[in-house]
Amino acid sequence: MSGTLPAGQAPDGALGAPPHRARALAGAAAEVALQDGSSVHVERVTVRYAGTRPRPALDQVELRVGAGEHVAVVGPSGAGKTTLLHVAAACLRADLGRVLIDGQEPWGLDARRRRQLRGRLFLAPQVPPLPPRQRVVTAVLAGRLPAMSLVSSARSLLYPLGIGAASRALAQFDLAERIFDRVDRLSGGERQRVNLARALLAPARVWLLDEPLSALDPVRAARALQAVRQEATRRGVTLIVSMHQVEMALASFPRVIGLRDGSVHFDVPASQVTSGQLSALYAHSQPVAEADDQPLEEAGPSELPMVWR
Ligand SMILES: Nc1ncnc2c1ncn2[C@@H]1O[C@H](COP(=O)(O)OP(=O)(O)OP(=O)(O)O)[C@@H](O)[C@H]1O
Ligand SMILES: [Mg+2]
Repeated sequence: MSGTLPAGQAPDGALGAPPHRARALAGAAAEVALQDGSSVHVERVTVRYAGTRPRPALDQVELRVGAGEHVAVVGPSGAGKTTLLHVAAACLRADLGRVLIDGQEPWGLDARRRRQLRGRLFLAPQVPPLPPRQRVVTAVLAGRLPAMSLVSSARSLLYPLGIGAASRALAQFDLAERIFDRVDRLSGGERQRVNLARALLAPARVWLLDEPLSALDPVRAARALQAVRQEATRRGVTLIVSMHQVEMALASFPRVIGLRDGSVHFDVPASQVTSGQLSALYAHSQPVAEADDQPLEEAGPSELPMVWR
């Protein structure tokens, strides 16, 4: 499937990038070889954090994301979105059930093979783990580390190679001019965009992005999401993004999963999400008016209560 359009995805043009951005994106794509996306299957996964709450963080979650698919995960705070992404990234082991990446169960592999499998996965954590004093260029190029030998990785920390690639990735998020700044001198939103630029350098087949837009203003968030989706589409990368901007999730993703209290409440094409489903998903933050249970596409964006925008 390398270089072809994954099933169910909008063609690049449909994402509406202006020509100069499309050219820049093509440049960024050339930095990393086009690869097939990986499938992610979450099979009856239960995660219970030790000694905390009676309810598990994930409760028998069942999910199948095909290679090259783009999926948004929405749901209230504490729903289990981060836990789900960490399980899918093979950072956290489920108490029950299993995760399969391209049919392989990470926790059934020996350490070396698990490391190789993890190399197919890129997790952008909710709080970007950018060491203070590190330069932006080093932070972005760290996206390549999984594909490098130990010696090359150590050397790259001292003498960054691929400054051009880092600069082009940063340009997708309007940050090229900050390339030699220290990350601890960036705003929260700028750090998030550095983290996204890092994804563009990663040789991964699955991008798991945990609330990557939470600190961005609406215009930057839309541009950043467009850049990420366009690049993921071009490479055939599987994309799973958790986010609180429900309206943007519905408008930008072909498929939306609603998670609440560790369970999947809905998992449908974005066009089929109803206001009733969203009311139930966010019941504790129910806005003033009772929403009709009709697809939001038919209802129109003005029907979307303010709390979900
Ligand atoms: N390390 C941890 N130890 C104990 N409990 C945890 C831990 N991490 C998460 N939890 C609990 O698990 C539940 C799910 O948390 P999670 O972070 O997955 O939710 P979330 O949907 O990502 O929320 P948010 O939108 O606020 O980021 C929450 O009740 C949370 O308090
Ligand atoms: Mg979270």
